[in-house]
Amino acid sequence: MIVRDAFCVSQPPSEATDRFTTSSTWERADAQWESHERRRLVCCRTVAETHDVRTFVFSAESGQPFSFEPGQFITVSADIDGETVSRCYTISSPPTRPYTLSITVKRTPGGRMSNWLHDHMKPGVVLLAYGPAGIFTPASAPAAKALYLSAGSGVTPLMSMTRAAFDLGLNRDIVFVHSARSPADIIFRDELSGLCAAADKLKVIHVCEGQGTGPDWNGPLGRLSLELLQQQVPDFRDREVFTCGPAGYMNSVKEVLLQGGHDPARYHQESFNFAETAEPIADVPPSPAEIGESTASTYTVRLAKSGKTFSITASETVLAAARKAGVALPSSCSQGLCGTCKTAVLEGSVEMRHNGGIRQREIDKGLRLMCCSRATSDLVLDL
Ligand SMILES: Cc1cc2nc3c(=O)[nH]c(=O)nc-3n(C[C@H](O)[C@H](O)[C@H](O)COP(=O)(O)OP(=O)(O)OC[C@H]3O[C@@H](n4cnc5c(N)ncnc54)[C@H](O)[C@@H]3O)c2cc1C
Ligand code: FES
Repeated sequence: MIVRDAFCVSQPPSEATDRFTTSSTWERADAQWESHERRRLVCCRTVAETHDVRTFVFSAESGQPFSFEPGQFITVSADIDGETVSRCYTISSPPTRPYTLSITVKRTPGGRMSNWLHDHMKPGVVLLAYGPAGIFTPASAPAAKALYLSAGSGVTPLMSMTRAAFDLGLNRDIVFVHSARSPADIIFRDELSGLCAAADKLKVIHVCEGQGTGPDWNGPLGRLSLELLQQQVPDFRDREVFTCGPAGYMNSVKEVLLQGGHDPARYHQESFNFAETAEPIADVPPSPAEIGESTASTYTVRLAKSGKTFSITASETVLAAARKAGVALPSSCSQGLCGTCKTAVLEGSVEMRHNGGIRQREIDKGLRLMCCSRATSDLVLDL
């Protein structure tokens, strides 16, 4: 049985480098990196995983070790073309190797942050990042047998979980089914084979949509289907399922599992693009229309620092209204999860329903998440 503490590791590794050998460093080892705290990460190395996916490995500029749970993400921010851009990236490394932290990023055609990271990030370059957040972690749903299902860059949280389970010597019964476009697109292929060879209860299956142009592929071809699942993982109904991948993939996985009689209460998913998912992973604030109130009210939002103003209807979130008016507010996940849009409401009131991206003590101080807050009066924001 896995307990939460077994995954929340902040002890130093046995082989410490020189700058980690002073007692003051050990005293700092338990320092938590809060999701609202921005720290400076120094790139140590980058690794090409596939033609369009690269891992970026960082250490903390302060020398502090990192503490997080496998499956959590950080929010990185960078000035790109004169604008601050923030994006969430899952930590692909395990918390069991706490002196470095990796993110594994797929280039999104036309995407700002992913291309900036691929083009600019190299050893010595500093990246600003907010601390770990997210609830997609096996610590929240411990189970004796797990099924990890991922597609594309959705492999990252499951890779962190697999690496952590291995490092902790848990010898967990994990079946990891990863789907890729072609054999050349399989991320972490060699490492997963190595882990598989070393851990007798870990089984890894790669499913490729097509052959691509590489050498012949002997593994399963096509998309993950009920037939394939029954063939490869006959006991899938007994497993706690963790899924991450594009929206279309996750919707079809959910359907396959339901068809196959898997208990939906034992299904957990993480979306990298919340706007695309057919079903929200958790509640966002209900609009007044949903709760039977009038949507006719329109309010004014004033940004105290920049002096900008825009109007907002009772049915819109502050972030959505700002976007509509062409006003850029800090944001990333848009679902009350990452904390990037946290802002002090100086005057007026909002109704917020978040997904864990803000703490009660921050709410008590007047902070709110703009992506999941609706105005109930005129507002003045500390922006
Ligand atoms: C919790 C979480 C964890 C994540 N983990 C990972 C991870 O481990 N690895 C990973 O690779 N990604 C991950 N992501 C996704 C990541 O945050 C980014 O969304 C992704 O890298 C794309 O960001 P970008 O800035 O490159 O693209 P964006 O600039 O956000 O663009 C996204 C798309 O929109 C299009 N677009 C942009 N601007 C416009 C415009 N003005 N008009 C029309 N189209 C436009 C782009 O062409 C592109 O197709 C994660 C996301 C979340 C929420
Ligand atoms: S943008 Fe992530 S919490 Fe609002």
